[in-house]
This record gives sequence, structure tokens and C-alpha cells, in this order.
Amino acid sequence: MNITVFGSGYVGLVTAACFADAGNDVLCVDIDPAKVQRLRNGECPIYEPGLEEMLQRNVREGRMRFTTEASEGVAHGQYQFIAVGTPPNEDGSADMQYVLAVAASIGQFMDDYRVIISKSTVPVGTADRVRDAVLSQLTARGADVDFDVVSNPEFLKEGAAVADFNKPDRIIVGTSSPRATEAMQALYAPFNRNHDRLIVMDVRSSELTKYAANAMLATKISFMNELSQIAERLGVDIEQVREGIGSDPRIGYHFIYPGCGYGGSCFPKDVKALSHIAQQVGYSAELLDAVEHVNARQKHTLFTKLSKAFNGQLNGKTIAVWGLSFKPNTDDMREAPSRELMEAVWAAGGLVQAYDPEAMHETLRIYGERPDLVLCDSRNAAVAGADALVICTEWKAFRTVDFAWLKSQLSSGVIVDGRNLYAPNEVKAAGLTYLGVGRGDSLA
Ligand SMILES: NC(=O)c1ccc[n+]([C@@H]2O[C@H](COP(=O)([O-])OP(=O)(O)OC[C@H]3O[C@@H](n4cnc5c(N)ncnc54)[C@H](O)[C@@H]3O)[C@@H](O)[C@H]2O)c1
Repeated sequence: MNITVFGSGYVGLVTAACFADAGNDVLCVDIDPAKVQRLRNGECPIYEPGLEEMLQRNVREGRMRFTTEASEGVAHGQYQFIAVGTPPNEDGSADMQYVLAVAASIGQFMDDYRVIISKSTVPVGTADRVRDAVLSQLTARGADVDFDVVSNPEFLKEGAAVADFNKPDRIIVGTSSPRATEAMQALYAPFNRNHDRLIVMDVRSSELTKYAANAMLATKISFMNELSQIAERLGVDIEQVREGIGSDPRIGYHFIYPGCGYGGSCFPKDVKALSHIAQQVGYSAELLDAVEHVNARQKHTLFTKLSKAFNGQLNGKTIAVWGLSFKPNTDDMREAPSRELMEAVWAAGGLVQAYDPEAMHETLRIYGERPDLVLCDSRNAAVAGADALVICTEWKAFRTVDFAWLKSQLSSGVIVDGRNLYAPNEVKAAGLTYLGVGRGDSLA
């Protein structure tokens, strides 16, 4: 099948590579010429386990090509995927300019039936806006071409995106068109052999399903973070509480880890966007607003702990930071808790020595060279000569540590464990000061 994917970011590239790997002929369109050039050379612009090999294989074997020309993309695929960004506007609503620009291009160049599929996370009603954008271009050039608009939200997790795409929990297809339903069933057949994962529903329900899923997950995280704050003040260890409640199958162990707040490109913007959608239809989404508020507060908790440990005197202190990406196995730093921490440390006059297995180049791209940021090539180098250590991301490489050695490296002996990686007793036994999240050791 011929497939076109607009947008070569986390979602677009994974979608394109997985469809190509299943034997399809995929053309990727992106407006960023530098990105397109790198991709043509087989270079993967993002870190996602398994993606680079897949990309190189499919480029080499001619099933995956790249262009900046929308006209080429529209001519190529019967399937036209929209996988461009939907970043937040000032008021929290989703910025639809990129999605609608792609829709307009499709309308401008389309001369045969197309299934136009939105993989981007978009507000309810977007399919109609896409339809209108396509139609107005067709009308402008007096063309009469049939097309369908389908909502097919993406549920992949960064860090496990290739595996998620190849073995999805569910494939949501929002459409009322039998022709489009059949086309989507054919397209996803290779990913559907074990059992039917396709759930077909009307397009608006599909659009809301994506926001509902992310808002639910964000709610679980903020709930546990709120509970961790209560536990801390009560002298209770939240990790014991987590195990205690996770054992209830109605609650489950997934997504109830307390930490330093959720980040990334999806939860923060999607919770805000859903609240905005609710507002537009006359409902004040108080729970969603609280989820967002609790998260913003939690992201600041690492700095609060650190600052208290130094009696507010961080000026001239060197803070080691382990983990910069918003979660492990990605280089994505969008809304990462590490950014809030580092920026607060800098504002207080401190210096950061940081290490991350994959996100160092992204850190450099965001902050540039600056005297108060030293990017180290190993976790051990990051703590050398530091006053305290803060863990922002739970990469596997940070899970086992010789605490006696760490004690010899950190002048103040303070560890702020933003992901509760360590057993407090073991850390304290080495003579270190352990500050976890909700572990009953509050300095508050
Ligand atoms: N990142 C995730 O984990 C994830 C998961 C599920 C859904 N989503 C949703 O998928 C969408 C894309 O997210 P992402 O993280 O891949 O974004 P991204 O920012 O990584 O990539 C977007 C890409 O689109 C390109 N682009 C912008 N306008 C274009 C145009 N007119 N034509 C062609 N390309 C264009 C950009 O240059 C960029 O390369 C968003 O709506 C997001 O909410 C993301």
C-alpha cells in the first residue's frame, strides 16, 4: 500500500517506519529541510529504542522515503496520515495551525480518493475542520474529488514506541464511512493477526478517547503525588502505601509511582487542552485543573527539598543531576522536571553538573553552552566534586549505586531522589542524607 505521513516527529517517524517494515511503500513529508536531509541519510533525529535500525533498513530497501514537498506526498499515498504537532496555545487550547495546514495541502493537490487520517491528538470537532479545509481548497480549484476523514489517535509510549505500534493494546478508528473503515482494516491487518484490536467508533468519540486516556493517566500520577505530600507530612512511607493499594486489581500497580511530576509532550498539553475543550462547552473541569495544578507543584518539589537542605543557600553550590529526559529511554526534554530543577538552581546561583544517557545533545540544544551547566559523560563524572545529587529520571543505569563511594563524592552528602529509586535505610546507613518523595523524611 502507498502511505504518506505528514510530520516526521516521534509519532510520524514511528508510524512511517512500522508501516514500511510491514511491507508498505511510505513517503514522509516534513517542512523541516534539515530533518529531511538527515533522514534521507538514514540518520534518526530522535532517540527511540529500535527506531534507527528500522529506519535504516527500510530506507536501504526503498520502502521509506522523505520529502519536503507536500504535492509529492499527496500524490503518493491513498492513505494520508497527519502526524504533526498540536502544541498548546497561551490559553491551553491546542494549536491547530499545523494540522489545518496539512489538510489545506491535501485539498490543494488531491486528484483521487484519499483517506485522510489524523494521528495527531486533536480536539473534538477537528475532523470536521479538516474536512472543511480540504473542501475549501477543492472548491477553490473547482475539483470534485471524494475523500474521507478518519480519527486514528496514537497511544504509543515514548521509550517503547516501536513495540507499542507493532503490538497495540487497541487501534481506535473514528469514522462513519464504510469505505474508510474497510481501508483502515486492510491497513492495520498485519498488526491485528493475534486478535482484532480495531475498535471502530464515531469520529468525535475517537477524538475524545485520546484525551480521556491521557487525562486518566495524568490523574493517576497527580493522585499519587498528592498522596506522597500527605504521607511525607505524616511520617509515612508512600512506597509501602503504593504496594498496599496496587495489590487491589481495581487500582493496579501501573502508573501509581510517586515522583517529581509528569512531563513530556503529551500529558501537560492534553490535560490543559481537555480542560479548555470542557470550558468551551460550558463545563468547568475542576478535577482536570487540579491534576494540572498538583503536577506543577510537584515539579517544584525537588528544588524545595534541595534548597531546604542547604538552608536556602545554593549560591556557588554544585548540584549533580542524574537524568534529564522527562522519562527513561527517550531524549525528549519537553516539560521535563529536570528543566524546572536546573532553572531554579541557576536562579539561586548554583551550578549544575548533569548526565543523561540520551538527552545531553537535546539539553545543549535547549540551553546552549553556559558556565553554570557542565554536561558530563558519565553518571560518576557528574557527581565528582558536587555538593549534592538530584535524581530526575529513573534510567536503569542509576538504579544500583555504591553509597559509600557516593558519600566520598558529595561534600554535603545530600541525595534528592525524585524517583524513589533507593531504599532510604541503605542510603542513610552510608552516612548520606536521603530525601525521597513522600518517604516520611520531610524537611518541611
Ligand atoms: N510524542 C508522543 O509520545 C505522542 C504520543 C501520542 C500522540 N502524540 C500526538 O501526535 C502529534 C505529533 O506529536 P510528536 O511528538 O510526534 O510531534 P513532533 O513535534 O515530534 O513532530 C512534529 C513534526 O511535524 C512537522 N511538521 C509541522 N508542520 C508540518 C507540515 N505542515 N507538513 C509536514 N510536517 C510538518 C515538524 O517539522 C515536526 O518534525 C501531536 O498531536 C501529539 O500530541 C504524541
